[in-house]
Amino acid sequence: MDSIDGLMDEIVALVKGAAHPARGTVSLSPEVAAALERCPSTVSTVPAAPPTVPAAPREEVVDAGGSGRSLEELAEVVAQCKACELCNGRTQTVFGSGNPHADLVFVGEAPGEQEDLQGLPFVGRSGDLLTDIIEKGMKLRRDDVYICNVIKCRPPDNRDPQSGEKSACEPYLLEQLDLIQPKVICALGGHAAKTLLNTDESTGRLRGRWHSYHGTPLRVTYHPAYLLRSPGEKKKTWADIQEIIKVLRGEAAP
Ligand code: URA
Ligand code: URA
Repeated sequence: MDSIDGLMDEIVALVKGAAHPARGTVSLSPEVAAALERCPSTVSTVPAAPPTVPAAPREEVVDAGGSGRSLEELAEVVAQCKACELCNGRTQTVFGSGNPHADLVFVGEAPGEQEDLQGLPFVGRSGDLLTDIIEKGMKLRRDDVYICNVIKCRPPDNRDPQSGEKSACEPYLLEQLDLIQPKVICALGGHAAKTLLNTDESTGRLRGRWHSYHGTPLRVTYHPAYLLRSPGEKKKTWADIQEIIKVLRGEAAP
């Protein structure tokens, strides 16, 4: 009996992990839904599950790796998102752009004015600097890497994202990274770094060494907007980028 309880606990944890907190639901096959219904102690520990669980084809049943959605499907879900207030002010969501199988993913903070208008990340002034880092510095094309943000909607007047907005949006970023499976993640600035590493340490203290994001090597560097204000710090970002290049080329271990 103990082992059955343990198994059920594990299933519940998996189902809960797959349910997007913003929606609080997860699609189950009729068989799994019925099995869970038969297990009273288990059902009561899944407050997010709707009373009538919608039937889904077997392929859509969640697995331990995630929701089973593709990157395109996730982008469509994000485009409809109303999980926080930022949806009211957006022109459109900014999901991400680049190679969906990229070895390197840059994660920024949130869309600005140009990003909100064009629906693409890092296309304003900060974006020009990021493009230079990628193309002139790393000798890659922008399309070789993947670029996205912690927050998918523009905060009014580019104010800092609030913690509730970050926690509403974070599951999308986590699923996005899980689908891309990069070799290296580069967090641009404090918001991305703190969200991904779940810490309050400053960018200055987090940069200059390797971190791990669920087993993926993660490097923190300054946000391009900060570098535009403090060009003297570009040297440090360049040092961070060189460490990333070495790991991508297999010349160094993170
Ligand atoms: N700053 C960010 O953090 N992200 C963008 O997409 C643009 C500017
Ligand atoms: N603080 C941040 O949040 N980001 C930077 O890039 C620098 C300082």
